[in-house]
Amino acid sequence: MKEFFVLDDFDLKNKRVAIRIDLNSDFENGKLLPNERFEAYSKTVKELIEREAKVIILAHQSRKGEPDFVSLNQHAELFSKYVGYNIEFVNDIIGEKAKKRINELKSGEAIMLDNVRFLDDEDKEKSINEHANSSLVKFLSPLIDFYVLDAFSAAHRSHASIVGFATVKPMIAGRVMEKEIESVKEAIKPLGLNVWIVGGAKIDDCIKVLEKMFERKPESIEKVLTGGLLAALFLLAKGYKIGKTYELLEKKGYLNLLEKAKKLLSLYSKEIELPIDVAIEKNGKRKEVPIEKIPNNALILDIGSKTIEKYKKIISEARSIIVKGPMGKFEQEGFEIGTKEILEEVAKSDAYSLIGGGDTSVAIEKFKIPKNKFNYISVGGGALITYLAEGTLVGIEALKISYSLFRKPK
Ligand code: 3PG
Repeated sequence: MKEFFVLDDFDLKNKRVAIRIDLNSDFENGKLLPNERFEAYSKTVKELIEREAKVIILAHQSRKGEPDFVSLNQHAELFSKYVGYNIEFVNDIIGEKAKKRINELKSGEAIMLDNVRFLDDEDKEKSINEHANSSLVKFLSPLIDFYVLDAFSAAHRSHASIVGFATVKPMIAGRVMEKEIESVKEAIKPLGLNVWIVGGAKIDDCIKVLEKMFERKPESIEKVLTGGLLAALFLLAKGYKIGKTYELLEKKGYLNLLEKAKKLLSLYSKEIELPIDVAIEKNGKRKEVPIEKIPNNALILDIGSKTIEKYKKIISEARSIIVKGPMGKFEQEGFEIGTKEILEEVAKSDAYSLIGGGDTSVAIEKFKIPKNKFNYISVGGGALITYLAEGTLVGIEALKISYSLFRKPK
């Protein structure tokens, strides 16, 4: 049964179409690093341009307070190359400049507005009805005909640009959204997902999802192999000293997850695997230390060799695997080993493998692991695991509501 609008449902020629995509990316020395999201989302935008819509692109970069919480000018420039058409950057979101440019748009033209998270009320976790009154929705809805939600990878956020237009405009699933929903559904059909490899730096989603998964579908998790900041949080929860990583967790506001981490460990100590050794930096080089001996002044930058061996054995016996986030700071020389070896082991295994997260895809690219060694690579990280745990995303629910409101009665 049809649940939401897709792009084939409408004639978009000469129509003003806003589209929410997700180009949230890493930066190195102030320079935007390309990743697979540019390629994925460029196809939908290209289609809109070629169907002669007047296209207004919305996206976000990072979160308030982070060093890479910046404007989207570099994104627009790089995205133009992927789309194959000029995407003009407009350094405004809901002001006069944006309004004027939107009103002047010609058919087949596309502009990108600035980082939607610059708006104070964008990233509050609120309901669809509350976000219908947000500054973005109030500004943009009188200026557009349709709203396309393509940002699967951000569709787990109940933010204004994800859910806010559902009741005020026909909201349409973009091509990435359509494909991700279909593919992830297919991917999880054959078996449960038995081994979860969870790392990376954004761990609020991970804790939430693990709680949900263990509660709702315990059979889907035989093992959780932890890396990145999640492993550090669990080590702390178990009483280990984690050196300067403590300050990092504190800075990111993750210490308030400590009680939850303790509870998860007390209930699921058999399933949740923690590193037994880690890599830190000493005199500019990698040094491995057991978890009992992490120095006070050290940052945990990777899992150690003994942990890698332990995790590889578990992976080799898995029936299906999901990977969300790298094991360590793989961008830094000497600290790529954990992420590389774990991904290579997943690529080698016969298990069904589902890969999520921008960083994980960047790592696959960096280590030149053939993409066809994995069964499916999603553009989403947090969104993918949330979808697996909950069977839906707030963005998908918003699409369904919009469809029920705007479809023509039979
Ligand atoms: C992501 O990179 O996973 C998405 O863009 C969501 O970003 P967020 O975790 O900052 O909401």
